[in-house]
Amino acid sequence: MTAIPIAQEYDPFGAAFQADPYPVYRWMRDEAPVFHSEKWGWYALSRFDDVRAAATDPETFLSRDGIDIDDTAKDQSGPGFLPDVDNPRHDQVRRLIQPHFLPRRIAAREDAVRAVVRDLVARWRDRGTVDLAQELAWPMPNEVFFTVLGLPSAAEEGRGQLDRWVHELKDRRPDDPRLTPVAKAATEGIRNYFMRLLEDRRAHPRDDVVSALVRAEIDGVPFAEEHLTPASEILGLMMVLFLGGVESTAGLTGSLFKLLAEHPDQRERLRRDPSLVPAAVEETIRHSSPLQLAARTTAREVTVHGTRIPPGARVVLVYGAANRDERQFPDPDRFDVSRGRFRHLGFGEGRHGCLGAPLARLEAKVALEEALPVLGDYTLAGPPVRYRTTPNMYVWDHLPLTFGVPAAGREQA
Ligand code: HEM
Repeated sequence: MTAIPIAQEYDPFGAAFQADPYPVYRWMRDEAPVFHSEKWGWYALSRFDDVRAAATDPETFLSRDGIDIDDTAKDQSGPGFLPDVDNPRHDQVRRLIQPHFLPRRIAAREDAVRAVVRDLVARWRDRGTVDLAQELAWPMPNEVFFTVLGLPSAAEEGRGQLDRWVHELKDRRPDDPRLTPVAKAATEGIRNYFMRLLEDRRAHPRDDVVSALVRAEIDGVPFAEEHLTPASEILGLMMVLFLGGVESTAGLTGSLFKLLAEHPDQRERLRRDPSLVPAAVEETIRHSSPLQLAARTTAREVTVHGTRIPPGARVVLVYGAANRDERQFPDPDRFDVSRGRFRHLGFGEGRHGCLGAPLARLEAKVALEEALPVLGDYTLAGPPVRYRTTPNMYVWDHLPLTFGVPAAGREQA
């Protein structure tokens, strides 16, 4: 008797998929490496080699229709949103912003990042319980990013509203590619806010990234027009820095502490050999990729594993699946901080490879170095809760932990 194949579907909008995407990814890699979604109309690549080949061929796999598979590109990103821009403009805009994110520039910020993390950890270190997502993974990149970019500090006017917008921008309903009214209102609010901020920095420049951007030129032409509008490129660039800088780093940090709670043996290895910290960060990005997918549009017909993909088709590069490909990584579902050096696609690759990777790596490393000694042999105090967001993100909203507190700490608490 022949086994009846189990009909499977890759529907990244669905609640069932979101609850655990990894079994679906395995099925895709094995049975449907060029998955065609009847429901949404796009194709999806899930094997490491296929995803990497597409990511590094930006002349065939264009970004012009946006990396998201919901309505983000239509209603939120705007021109200048780097991941959605093809050449020649992409490289011109990237050259403007790249110097601010070079590894050595970012390394020079380590003390500032550490100060942010220490301040956050001090608030709960004597408590014995913490929601690590809410009390470290989210506020750390938020605070760091505001300092790096030159956005208002926590004490300045308008900051509370910005903190709320970070979340409201990503408000979505399950099974629905449209932005909710909350997300649309936050988009408008933040664009207006950025316009005012840019005008202010133009009039009163400071030593920060926003001031540099508003004065920058490309081939002698000012990057920011004299009269900014919602369609100004500089606003799209600000939006990707804001969206890209906070949520994905929160996802990485949350997953890092979650995985170490679930794998005490790996945590013990880290404690005994702190030189493994950077490896633990890379393994987390591979194992639980914060940015699970990025879409492209074909410039010409391509054939992958015998499947013809027509020109103008949307193709989803599923980084989260490629990073668990057993053809590339032995025992890929295992979380192992001592895999040694390996290449992953968690930051993409090639022209659109992540601008903020050095910053994200630094933040995650410092978070581990500062929080792990405080948390000791911590455990999950309840089930982690996924963050409600776009289907491309894998991020935690709540990560309740319990940990031991030395007697002296308890008395002070
Ligand atoms: C763990 C944290 C992060 C992860 C996992 C991540 C992941 C990614 C990935 C996979 C891409 C490629 C998208 C594609 O192929 O189209 C990307 C691009 C990008 N990321 Fe990140 N990112 C992170 C942190 C950051 C930070 C902190 C920033 C802030 C500067 C940032 C800014 C960007 C930008 C601007 C791009 C577009 C680059 C381009 O198109 O030239 N990311 N990121």
